Order: sequence, then C-alpha cells, then structure tokens
Amino acid sequence: MKALVLSGGAGTRLRPFSYSMPKQLIPIVNKPVLEYALENIVALGVTEIAVIVGDWAPQIAEVLGDGSRFGARITYVHQERPLGLAHCVALARPFLGDDDFVMYLGDNMLPQGIGGIAEQFRTRRPDAQVVVSKVPDPRAFGVAELAPDGSVMALTEKPQQPRSDLALIGVYFFTAAIHRAVAAIDPSARGELEITDAIQWLVSHGFDVRAGEYDGYWKDTGQADDVLECNRRLLGELTARIDGEVDGTSEIIGPVVIEAGARVLRSRIVGPVVIGAGSVVEDSRIGPDVSIADDCVLRATQLADSIVMTGASITQVPGLHGSLIGRSASVGPSDHAQAHHRLVVGDHTRVEVAA
Ligand code: TTP
Repeated sequence: MKALVLSGGAGTRLRPFSYSMPKQLIPIVNKPVLEYALENIVALGVTEIAVIVGDWAPQIAEVLGDGSRFGARITYVHQERPLGLAHCVALARPFLGDDDFVMYLGDNMLPQGIGGIAEQFRTRRPDAQVVVSKVPDPRAFGVAELAPDGSVMALTEKPQQPRSDLALIGVYFFTAAIHRAVAAIDPSARGELEITDAIQWLVSHGFDVRAGEYDGYWKDTGQADDVLECNRRLLGELTARIDGEVDGTSEIIGPVVIEAGARVLRSRIVGPVVIGAGSVVEDSRIGPDVSIADDCVLRATQLADSIVMTGASITQVPGLHGSLIGRSASVGPSDHAQAHHRLVVGDHTRVEVAA
C-alpha cells in the first residue's frame, strides 16, 4: 500500500495564518499537524508517500524533507490550484500506479492512529473504503448513507438536509478502481473534482464501497477554534518533563513540559503547558492548556488556552486566552506610554478586546 497526503488547498478558513504558512504546519502541542499524519501512515508500515503541495511547497518540504526522518520516502506532487480532492488523485496517478493507497487529508488529526480502519480495509479489501464518524451537525461534511451491512449506498457533499449523521472524515482507502471513477466525473458547482462524486460513481457502477466507523477522537483543523480544541485535547495527554531552567521563585503545577534551553523566571505555570526550546517566560502566569513554541518571549503576561508560535513575543498582557499567536508576532504595550491601542494587523485577522 502507498499513501497520498493532501497538503495543498486554499485554507481560507484559517486566515490570516494561511496567508503566510500552510495550515498543515500549524503546531498542535508544538508539532505540525502534518507530522502527526505522516506518523500515522508510517505506523501502518506504509513508507511510499506522495504529498500534494500547492504554493507553500517550499515550507512543507523544509519541514518534511525527503521523509527519512519518519522512516518514509516522500515524493512531492505539485498542484497548481486547489481543484479538488479527486484532482489530487489524478495528479498522483503516475506515483500511485495500480497500487492500493490510503488518502489522508493533511489538516486532519486522528491522534489515536488509523491502524484499526486500515486493518478493516486490508482484511476485506473492498474497491474503496471511506471512514465515517457520527457528528451532531453533518451539514458541513460529506455525508454517507449506509446499508445495514455497512456498504455505502450514497454520498452527498455538504447536504442541506443530511440523510444520516455519519460524516466522512479525512482518511480514505482506495484500490486502483478509483482512477476510473476520477476520470469519469466532472467538476462540481464549486469548480472542484469532488472525491465524494468519484466514490459515488463507484457506488452507482456496482463497485464494493464500504464504510468503517472511526470511534477515536478526530478533528479537521481547518478553523482556529478547532485548532485550539485539538491542542487542548492533546495537551490532556502530556507527560511532565522539565529539561529547561526554572528559578526558585517559580511554581510549576500539573503536567508541564519545559524543553532544554527554555527559562522560566518568577512565574506560575499551571499544566498542561508546553514551553519550547529557547523560550523565556518571566513574571507571568501561564496555563492551563497552553503551547508555547521555540524562541518565544513572554513577560508579565497571563495566558491560558492558547497557542504561541515560534519566535512570538507577548509582553504585559494580563488576560489573554483562546488565542493563536503567529510566528514572530509581537503583542504588547506601546513604546510611547500612550493611553490608546495601536494595531498593525493583516487581512482577515480577528482581534477581540475585553469590553
Ligand atoms: P479543505 O480543508 O477541504 O480545503 P481548503 O484547504 O481549500 O480549505 P478552506 O475550505 O478553508 O479554503 O481541504 C482538505 C485538505 O486537502 C487540506 O489539507 C488541503 C487539501 N487540499 C489539496 O491538497 N488540494 C485541493 O485541491 C483541495 C481542495 C484540498
């Protein structure tokens, strides 16, 4: 089996981050979402991996390299524009050949792994196998209607009136049959070659398409609130480890990771919290549910339920929570002691101030 990881796309729902970085590199507990995907794939014993990349190809290649760090071999496939998930399958055909493959959306998190659903596919080996999970409001997802024996009867992309509560999640297993389907479909109303249309084509033409229900935690990290929720969830499994420096006046409570080269001075850290290498936290109250990446500086700040990315600094902000702070961003008071706020924020940025 090979793997196809989708790491192009527009990422409009994660603006402004997607203006300067691929959303698949957003860190969850200080590790990019995409790395979790690769680890799950390699854990299946799959090492031949194609990664679809768009405009952010250089940033993605810088992080993943040739894949050897993960025990895999990565082939990059460039997609000029996000023309749909099925378009990605067509682009990767030369790499995939007629092999079975797992297709994995690079912004999806399944921290408990995909071993169980892969085993279902390998054991029964239908022509295609989708993965579904029950959701309270399926209207934002592809929705599957299943027969009692677990075979797929119909798939609908983002239906207004869903006919089941089973949403498709971002992992699919395919045999070479999918290539016939992809070649047969037309772009949808939104101009994309939809994978749901291709799978529906298989269903309509009598192929064996099955659904495996995923009962672990999963999250599409396509929006800021989902990123934070997922971060909280994974921080919940943190094991304490202090390799950095903590001064005698600081207090460390609960599961806290302080990486080597990080310094905590005159502060109170309430886990789960992770503080990356080279970061400095002074006179601050941090946590719970905070991930601070490498080389950040936090001074006289109170911060909870947030992600701070590499090289950011936050100074004298007393009550910050539910925040995503981008790489090398700076949040703090003006140099001129003025009694008003000054904002230099990019397009589609959201700033919420305390009333
Ligand atoms: P989506 O999140 O569905 O699409 P998007 O990235 O365009 O995001 P938004 O809706 O916020 O604009 O994509 C799911 C995954 O598949 C994600 O990792 C991006 C990737 N993708 C591609 O690689 N190529 C594509 O043509 C599309 C549509 C998505």
